[in-house]
Amino acid sequence: MVSIEHEQTLVLIKPDALKNSLTGYVLSQLSEFHTGLRFAGTKIVHVSEMLAYEHYAEHRGKVFFPALIEYIRGMLHYPDEPWKHRVIAIVYQGPGAVQKIRDIAGPTNPHIAREQRPGCIRALGTVVPLKDSEGKVVGERMDNLIHASATVDEAEREIKLWFKPNDIPPSMQAYPTETCEEYFYIKDNKLSIKHEAGSICFFAPGNIGWKSDLETLRLLSKGMTTPYSLEAVVAKYLINEKEKPSKS
Ligand code: RTP
Ligand code: MG
Repeated sequence: MVSIEHEQTLVLIKPDALKNSLTGYVLSQLSEFHTGLRFAGTKIVHVSEMLAYEHYAEHRGKVFFPALIEYIRGMLHYPDEPWKHRVIAIVYQGPGAVQKIRDIAGPTNPHIAREQRPGCIRALGTVVPLKDSEGKVVGERMDNLIHASATVDEAEREIKLWFKPNDIPPSMQAYPTETCEEYFYIKDNKLSIKHEAGSICFFAPGNIGWKSDLETLRLLSKGMTTPYSLEAVVAKYLINEKEKPSKS
C-alpha cells in the first residue's frame, strides 16, 4: 500500500484536448502550484488497440465501447492524419493525488460538468450522439478531454498498464518491482519463453519489471490462470513499437 504522501494517479490528455490545443491549459490546471502534486512520469503514446481495450476493459460490450476505442486512439479527431494518433500519459504523485485530479477534471459527461461544475476541465468537452445504421440515436460519446484514475486501486492498475518501472524515477516508483531472470516473447498474442521467427522479446534477464507483471508471466507460461491478462502485461512493453501483434 502506497502512503498517502506518495499516492499516484494516471492522467491521459486525450486526442480532443490535443486537437484543441488545450494541453497547456490542462497542465496549468494540474500544476504543482495548484495541486501540490509532482510529475512522476510522462510519455507520448500511440495507443494500440491492445492498450485501448485493456484500459477500457470495464466498458467492453457497452454500446459506446467501439466509439470509445476509436476516440482514445485518435481516429475520430485525426481521421486523415494517423501520425497524430497519440495521447499524453502522465503520472502525478502527491498527497490525495487521485481525488484532487478527479475534482479538477469534473464529471464524466461534459454537459453535466458545465451544469454542476463550471470551470472544471471537462466543462470544455463535448457530447456526440451515436447512431445505428438507420440513423437512430443509440447512445452517446463523451469527449471529455482527460482521463483521471477514479480510485487508488484503479490508479495502480492503470499506471502499471501504461508505464514500465524505468519510465518513472526509482525513488518515485510506488509499486513493487523485480529483476527478470528469463526471456519472454510474444507472437500472435501468444506468450513464449523461446524465440521463434517473428516473435518479439519484451523481457530479458536483467530487465526490471513490475513484480505483478513477472508473477503473471510465470503463471501464464505454466498454463495457469492469473488475475491479470497477458495483454495487460504486454501492452506497455509494446508502446510505440512499430510492429505490434494484432488483437485477436
Ligand atoms: P475516465 O475513466 O476517462 O477518467 O472517465 P470516468 O472515470 O469519469 O468515467 P468512466 O465510467 O471510467 O468512463 C470512461 C470513459 O468512457 C466514456 N463513457 N461514455 N456514453 C456513456 O454512457 C459513457 N460512459 C462513459 C467517457 O469518455 C469516459 O471518460
Ligand atoms: Mg474511469
